[in-house]
Amino acid sequence: PFEILSKLRREAPVRYDNSRNCWDVFAYDDVHRVLKDSLTFSSVRGTAAGQNLLFMDPPKHTQMRDLVNKAFTPRAIQELAPRIQSITEDLLEQVSGQEMDLVSDFATPMPVIVIAELLGAPTEDRSLFKKWSDILVESAENATDEAFQKITEKRMHAMQELAQYFKNIIEIRSKHPQDDLISALLIAEINGEKLTDRELISFCILLLAAGNETTTNLITNGVRILAEQPSVQTELYRNLDAIPSFIEEVLRYYPPIVAIGRIATKDTEIGSQTVKAGEQVISWVGAANRDESKFSEPDKFNLLRKPNPHMSFGFGIHFCLGAPLARLEGKIALQVLLERYEEIKLVSDRPLIPIPSSFVFGVKNYPISFVRM
Ligand code: HEM
Repeated sequence: PFEILSKLRREAPVRYDNSRNCWDVFAYDDVHRVLKDSLTFSSVRGTAAGQNLLFMDPPKHTQMRDLVNKAFTPRAIQELAPRIQSITEDLLEQVSGQEMDLVSDFATPMPVIVIAELLGAPTEDRSLFKKWSDILVESAENATDEAFQKITEKRMHAMQELAQYFKNIIEIRSKHPQDDLISALLIAEINGEKLTDRELISFCILLLAAGNETTTNLITNGVRILAEQPSVQTELYRNLDAIPSFIEEVLRYYPPIVAIGRIATKDTEIGSQTVKAGEQVISWVGAANRDESKFSEPDKFNLLRKPNPHMSFGFGIHFCLGAPLARLEGKIALQVLLERYEEIKLVSDRPLIPIPSSFVFGVKNYPISFVRM
C-alpha cells in the first residue's frame, strides 16, 4: 500500500475523497500540523468512546493522561525488561522443529502476556491470556456467515471475560496493593482526583486493545523485513547493537498503524485546501513516513537511518503512551529471535493473509523456517 500512498501524496498532498466523505492528508508537514494542533483537530468520537483516553480532548485528556503517566513511566517500563525476556524465552522454548507461525506462536501471545502481567495478572494465569489472545486473533475471513457469527460471539465473550477478570483484580488490589500497574493506578491522583473503577477497567481494556495487535504487528513486520531483505538480515546479525535502530526503521517503513483520524472543530486550511468545521481528516502516517522532503531515499530500508523522525507512534498530546513498552518488547523479541535462529525465511508455499484494514499494516499469519544456532 505504501507505493500507492506515495503516489497519492505526489499527486495531491491534501485532498477530499468524495466516496468516503473525508480529507486525506499525505505530506509529512501537514500530518505533523494536524496531529500537533489538537484544538483545531479533535479526537472526540461518539458517546461510547467518551471514557477512553484516545478519544478525549483537553482538558479531560490532560487530566487523565497526567494520571496514567504517573504509573506508566519510562523507568517503570525499563524495569520490566527481565520479565519480558523470560516471557519471550518461555514462548520460544515451546517451539519445536525448524518452522513456526511467527504470528500465532510468538508475536500474538508475547505482548498479551506482557500487558497482563504488567497490569497485575499472576504468572499462573498466562494460559488464560494465551487462550483469550488466540480467540481474539482467530481469522473470520473466508468463513461462512454462520461461522463468522460464531467467531464474533466467541470474541465478544472473550472480551467480557477479560473485563470481568480485571474487575476482580481491581477489587483485590484495592484492598491489598501490590507492585503492579493496577495498584499504582488505584492510588494515583491529580488535584485530589482519582480514576473511578469504571475508568480504570476501560483503561485496562484500552491498553489491551491499543497495545496488543500493534506490538504483534511491529514484531511480525520486523521479521518480515529480515525475510524480504536478506542483506538487512546479514547486516543485523553482524551488528546486534543496531537492533533499536532497526526497530525504529521498521516502525517507519512498515508502520503498524498507517492512518490516524481527527475531526476539524473549525474552518481551517491544510496545505492550500480549506477544511470546514465538522469534517473528518485522516492523517496518513504511512505516507508521511516516506515523504522525500523529510527522509532521504524513503523507499529504502536503512538499518542505520539517523535521524528517523517517523510518526508511527503519532505526535503531540496523544503520542503513544505505550511507545517505551513497544520499543522494549520489539527490541527483546528481535534480540532473542536472532540469538536462537539464523537464516530466517518465509515459508512461501502458504498464502499470507493481510489484516483487512487500510488503517493497519500487518498479516495474520507469517510462517517462517530457520536454522537453530
Ligand atoms: C496512542 C501507535 C503500542 C497504548 C497511540 C497512537 C498511535 C499509537 C499512532 C496515537 C493515536 C492518535 O493520535 O489518535 C502504537 C504502535 C504501537 C503501540 C505503532 C506498537 C508498535 C502501544 C502499547 C500500549 C499503547 C504497547 C500500551 C501498553 C496507547 C495508548 C494511547 C496510544 C493508551 C492513547 C494515548 C492518548 O490518547 O493520550 N499509539 N502504539 N500503545 N497508545 Fe499506542
